[in-house]
Amino acid sequence: MNYLLFFGLVFLVATNANAGNLQNDVAAGSNIHTFLQLIWDLLKILAHTIHIDEDAGLNITQFLEKYNYSLEQHQVTTEDNYILSLHRIPHGRNNTGTKNKPVVLLVHCLACSSMDWIWPGPNKALALLLADLGYDVWLANNRGNSYSMGHKTLIPKNASYWDFSFYEKGYYDIPASIDHILNVTGVEKITYIGHSQGATTGIVLTTTRPEYNDKINLMTLLSPVAYLGNATSPMAKILSKYQSLLDLALPFLGIHGIAYTPTIGVLGSLLCNQQSSLQPLCIVFIDLFAGFDADQVDKEKLPVFLSNTPNGVSIKDIKHYVQEMDSGHFRRFDYGKVANIVHYGQLTPPAFNVSKITAPLAVYYAKNDFMVSLNDVTRFVNELSTFPKVLHQVEYDFFNHLDFITAKDVKSLLYDSLIETIQKYAPVN
Ligand SMILES: *[C@@H]1O[C@H](CO)[C@@H](O)[C@H](O)[C@H]1NC(C)=O
Ligand SMILES: *[C@@H]1O[C@H](CO)[C@@H](O)[C@H](O)[C@H]1NC(C)=O
Ligand SMILES: *[C@@H]1O[C@H](CO)[C@@H](O)[C@H](O)[C@H]1NC(C)=O
Ligand SMILES: *[C@@H]1O[C@H](CO)[C@@H](O)[C@H](O)[C@H]1NC(C)=O
Ligand SMILES: *[C@@H]1O[C@H](CO)[C@@H](O)[C@H](O)[C@H]1NC(C)=O
Ligand SMILES: *[C@@H]1O[C@H](CO)[C@@H](O)[C@H](O)[C@H]1NC(C)=O
Ligand SMILES: *[C@@H]1O[C@H](CO)[C@@H](O)[C@H](O)[C@H]1NC(C)=O
Repeated sequence: MNYLLFFGLVFLVATNANAGNLQNDVAAGSNIHTFLQLIWDLLKILAHTIHIDEDAGLNITQFLEKYNYSLEQHQVTTEDNYILSLHRIPHGRNNTGTKNKPVVLLVHCLACSSMDWIWPGPNKALALLLADLGYDVWLANNRGNSYSMGHKTLIPKNASYWDFSFYEKGYYDIPASIDHILNVTGVEKITYIGHSQGATTGIVLTTTRPEYNDKINLMTLLSPVAYLGNATSPMAKILSKYQSLLDLALPFLGIHGIAYTPTIGVLGSLLCNQQSSLQPLCIVFIDLFAGFDADQVDKEKLPVFLSNTPNGVSIKDIKHYVQEMDSGHFRRFDYGKVANIVHYGQLTPPAFNVSKITAPLAVYYAKNDFMVSLNDVTRFVNELSTFPKVLHQVEYDFFNHLDFITAKDVKSLLYDSLIETIQKYAPVN
């Protein structure tokens, strides 16, 4: 009976998701939202029988309230008119105020949000560990995710809203966020921590606006996505092989980006919870991107992760990464020879010159990372002008691309050592 109800709901949600394209869902707004809210409430009732973790479906406000952390929300407008939400956890459970605290900025991955630094909960999530230790913790939300959908003139229904990749996030979103933080806190430098695309945006920032190197006392890159020519991810290879889908089919269908909707979160937590017979498939699907590491999946918490992630993503952003994998270059978006001349005044896109990074660097990478291979890390490090302060391979052989934020034992495998480094460069008084 539960299964009947369960699949009935899945069917309802799925048909609803297909009824219009996802961008329209968000734009169409309130009635669809009410409908989803209804389903979500039903699920909560059902949760007693199918045991979906209670944290699934909580947004950042609700989540932090539940665990007794406070949240400040800040709004930042970029030079090119995107309106972003910056989230701040000013103090932990045992400390108060923000006076004289070192400031850290955590920057999320592709199709992620500030929640990805929080959902594992107290004593485990990096943002909460740092807040409890006495850091003033800021969480970026780059353009296009569920907390940063705003724009002065465009809405996500407009194709041009989605005309961005990681370059614009690194060149516009991050500096706007950093300047706001410096202004509010009065500190001179922040500690930057980026995972995956959050690492890319840090590199883009410090290479294209080198003056920002002086505003960072330590740039920590978790899985440094720069060069991707040796990436082994089968899923990424499939994307690369069927690029025409990204080039032709999706634009033809009017899909330039996929906004986050509660539908995605509900589907994820429904299909991939511990009681679902589909959970193993979900894990294989994720691992085809990230690397196989079933042992480090927290099967109970998986629905919590999937209720926030994947978050909003632009097709151009995905295409830009596919170009990196195909070309082996780390450079601006490739529009094709003729259009490149229009955009850049040259036939090929300008490369990001990683030797322009002068901020102290800490680089963490892993052996089983299907996106960032050891060869590509080596290439990145060799091109730096100074050797990183820390170059650390996670000691667990199966650690994969997502384990940096999701691994069951991420605290002992990574964060303990990471925090030790941060305390060296940005000590708590
Ligand atoms: C989270 O949801 C609550 C209840 O719907 C809402 O009041 C709050 O503004 C949301 N928080 C964010 C950051 O969107
Ligand atoms: C939050 O704080 C309240 C009041 O101090 C306490 O009763 C509650 O147990 C705390 N909740 C958590 C999850 O720690
Ligand atoms: C808060 O302080 C108490 C007493 O020193 C300690 O037992 C507890 O572990 C601390 N909690 C956190 C989250 O740091
Ligand atoms: C964006 O979409 C709105 C609503 O469909 C439309 O009125 C507006 O002209 C569009 N703007 C651009 C720049 O395409
Ligand atoms: C800094 O804050 C002040 C006061 O709120 C504001 O007037 C100013 O525009 C801000 N500067 C930047 C660079 O954000
Ligand atoms: C793979 O890595 C090696 C060693 O860093 C590098 O020389 C080579 O260019 C990379 N291959 C591709 C296709 O990018
Ligand atoms: C990269 O930057 C370094 C340091 O600023 C500079 O010496 C070098 O010429 C640059 N390389 C290219 C190809 O522009």
